Amino acid sequence: MKKILELLSEEMGKAFEAAGYDGALGRVTLSNRPDLCEYQCNGAMAGAKQYKKAPIAIAGEVAKQLEGSRVFSEAAAVAPGFLNLKLSESYLLEMVKAMASEPKFGLEPPEKKKKIVIDYGGANVAKPLHVGHIRPAVIGESVKRICRYAGHEVIGDAHLGDWGLQMGLVITALQDIQPDLAYFDESYQGEYPKEAPFTISQFEELYPAASAKSKEDPAYKARAMEATFKLQSGVRGYRALWQQILNVSVPDLKKNYARLNVEFDLWKGESDVRDLIPEMVDYMKTNGYAHISEGALVVDVKEETDTKEIPPCMILKSDGAALYNTTDLATILERMRLYHPDEIIYVVDKRQELYFEQVFRCARKTKLVEPETELKFLGFGTMNGSDGKPFKTRDGGVMRLENLIRETEEEMYRKIREGRQMPEEEARQTAGQVAVSALKYGDLSNQASKDYIFDIDRFTSFEGDTGPYILYTIVRIKSILSRFVGQGGSLEHLMLLPAADESEKALEMALVQFNTMLQAAEQETAPHKVCAYLYDLANAFNHFYHETKILSEEDRGKKESLIALLVLTRDVLETCIDLLGFEAPEKM
Ligand code: ARG
Repeated sequence: MKKILELLSEEMGKAFEAAGYDGALGRVTLSNRPDLCEYQCNGAMAGAKQYKKAPIAIAGEVAKQLEGSRVFSEAAAVAPGFLNLKLSESYLLEMVKAMASEPKFGLEPPEKKKKIVIDYGGANVAKPLHVGHIRPAVIGESVKRICRYAGHEVIGDAHLGDWGLQMGLVITALQDIQPDLAYFDESYQGEYPKEAPFTISQFEELYPAASAKSKEDPAYKARAMEATFKLQSGVRGYRALWQQILNVSVPDLKKNYARLNVEFDLWKGESDVRDLIPEMVDYMKTNGYAHISEGALVVDVKEETDTKEIPPCMILKSDGAALYNTTDLATILERMRLYHPDEIIYVVDKRQELYFEQVFRCARKTKLVEPETELKFLGFGTMNGSDGKPFKTRDGGVMRLENLIRETEEEMYRKIREGRQMPEEEARQTAGQVAVSALKYGDLSNQASKDYIFDIDRFTSFEGDTGPYILYTIVRIKSILSRFVGQGGSLEHLMLLPAADESEKALEMALVQFNTMLQAAEQETAPHKVCAYLYDLANAFNHFYHETKILSEEDRGKKESLIALLVLTRDVLETCIDLLGFEAPEKM
């Protein structure tokens, strides 16, 4: 099914041609004066010069051609030469019917089906997830679902941070508290214990302390670097300890991501490409791409047209250790070999933009990717607290993601309890579901690259542009439908009739924007477009609901048509929240 503006433009183009003008002038857009009309066409203004005629004269001739049109119920030429348009109810009905019967509400498959790898999440092992990890997880998950729905093959990869200096830091910190562990005894030949010598909670203090110390104490940093090197070069005890860190950390990460409905197809990490690194380094050297600079191995990536300084991309440190760049480049090599994607999308903090510019350039220059492989950086802004600074706990610390989710749940639970009677267990479960919508919608409704303020009161409100408002709307529809079924009605084979009033028409017009919105959200990797659509649709529905008696409607045909419209609205709303990665409860 074509997009509505395309269909309307085609119809308008025909009218321009019939009046003797270029059909390309018939481009129809949404009205910017909704008080006057629903759609508009400014083609007569554009054609005035070409045809040396007053725009209003052209508009008048075109409007004449549209008398009796099956598409437009009204086409008025107004000074100085606009065409103000209203859609015919019967044509709109055809579109709504097509939408209800076609798969994916009439969304057409993409011109070219792509294979896309999305690199998102990016959690670091040995560090519990904190609020800074909410954005890459939530945005990446939604982009993955949108691209998949649009018809592409999508692979989501967690790309865990498990190989760089951070591992060396944690290992060094552990060595300081438990120096006698067998892992540190390089002459030890026996089996290592099965039990890990630490818990996930310990990491919470371990890593930040080690990281802070390494910044002040060069000797400590040197030890951490040495530990990193030993790990990377395969010293047995370090590898075994590292494996223990993963064993403790990864299940905790999985649990937290699952709580946010974030699912990865691949749980790979930086370490997974460790065996590709020597080969890649060799290749870059023998082909003359990489050279030694101040002891380190680098690839120059600056270009003549650069207006700012783009430093070389460092492949190996002077001590031979692999860095963040090294694993990212080797991961590109691996992804090309294993999946040969058309596109790789990186959902990463926008402060890493320059870094990715270097990596992308290096991958192109060294031909790790094909010339047509798209490498896309989707940089996101910071989640701030009400003071406009990066979100902190009340005492100024970094908040664990788990705690943020819990606090939001508590707030939701309180609001649900205030609003209605519900058994304790059900209220808890519902609060959990609605809290995820509050967090995710609060994040996704902002353009990803912008910073936003985490405002728990606003995000958990049942009113306004929020997740709970959208869920509330869905629950309202579900409850009307179940009452209809309770009265003996069936939700199958319902016949839609033309819209009976403005509010019903407005709801239908909001619905038929679906495929337009989805294509834009996919092409621009922009989940906020799904949110904006949801909000418009929910508003259109609630207005319609306010204006219309549904269950008490006496005319059976009319009632069934209203129910059919509700079914479609519910299905579209539920599809959209699934694209954002949350679900609606039955009641709330
Ligand atoms: N672990 C990284 C960090 O915490 C994010 C990973 C982003 N993805 C990537 N391919 N580098 O900053």
